[in-house]
Amino acid sequence: MSSRHKATAVAHPNIALVKYWGKRDERLVLPHQSSLSVTLGQLEVSTTVEFGVEQDEVTLQGKPAQEKERARVIEMLQRLRERASERLGAARVSSVANFPAAAGLASSAAGFAALAVAVRAAAGLPFDVREASILARLGSGSACRSIQGGFCVWRRGQAPDGSDSYASQLFSEAHWPDLRLLVTILSGEKKEITSREGMKHTVETSPYYSAWVQDAEAEVARATERIRDRDLAGVGNISERNAWRMHAAALGADPAICYLHPETLRMVLALEQERRRGLPAWFTLDAGPNPVLLTDAAHLSAVEALVARVGAQRSIACGVGTDARLSEAHLF
Ligand code: PMV
Repeated sequence: MSSRHKATAVAHPNIALVKYWGKRDERLVLPHQSSLSVTLGQLEVSTTVEFGVEQDEVTLQGKPAQEKERARVIEMLQRLRERASERLGAARVSSVANFPAAAGLASSAAGFAALAVAVRAAAGLPFDVREASILARLGSGSACRSIQGGFCVWRRGQAPDGSDSYASQLFSEAHWPDLRLLVTILSGEKKEITSREGMKHTVETSPYYSAWVQDAEAEVARATERIRDRDLAGVGNISERNAWRMHAAALGADPAICYLHPETLRMVLALEQERRRGLPAWFTLDAGPNPVLLTDAAHLSAVEALVARVGAQRSIACGVGTDARLSEAHLF
């Protein structure tokens, strides 16, 4: 098989400032709400795909993928094969991240975004943001926001087939070069309840869920304005309240889902205290115990010192990341 059936893509993770939490269609990964994220520079996942091999083979970080992850990758390959005009055959997929899975950073978002871009290229399809975003979404909802860099919005859409539910860029990384995102690792433990299970349980049992969803579209609009104005305090306030509300909805589920650890609260309270003393830094929290802090370049070292003092195992400083891209550096 010729090398036109082989491609490598690199994508960055993203962190939502206005969160997605809950699907209206499980199979097509269609959300109840729109969400908005910032792409994280420095951190990246590379994925190589080659069609026309003996049998499907999926390797993550140099090891055969576990059954659950493998099944999600194979499912994405299958969707592409169904749409392709030629017979593509079995595929070999290999993916490596340059950051620890323990960063709790939805490495799946960058992974499925890189996979979507790579499989389309390996199948001979042109780079297309919308198509790649829709394909990535099928692997993991948040992955649809990692096709482009900068600040992206995933519009929930209305169409039952999901054709209008994809992410697009609001502002490129050049819009806010001074913004810094500090990924803090307080706990490397694997979470017991995956996002997939957690959001389903929240939708089904939390009385707070509908209130959270109701405000989501307005929240995206408000966050867009604050980002447009490069208003760090404004973005920070929205990002904190949005994270709290997502966690409140999960805590209101029956039985409750709590992703927070004691260290998370210690960190958040210390951050609030420092902010009262003038440190411009805010947090967001995904479905896990590790906050991502927002600040600017001038205050990064003070925020790094704070997280070290509060006991973070590690922190990784990021600027705003760029688009996913094709690369010649194949992994095999
Ligand atoms: O994309 P998933 O299925 O891993 O869900 C991600 C959900 C959050 O990270 C908690 C929020 C978000 O919008 O990314």
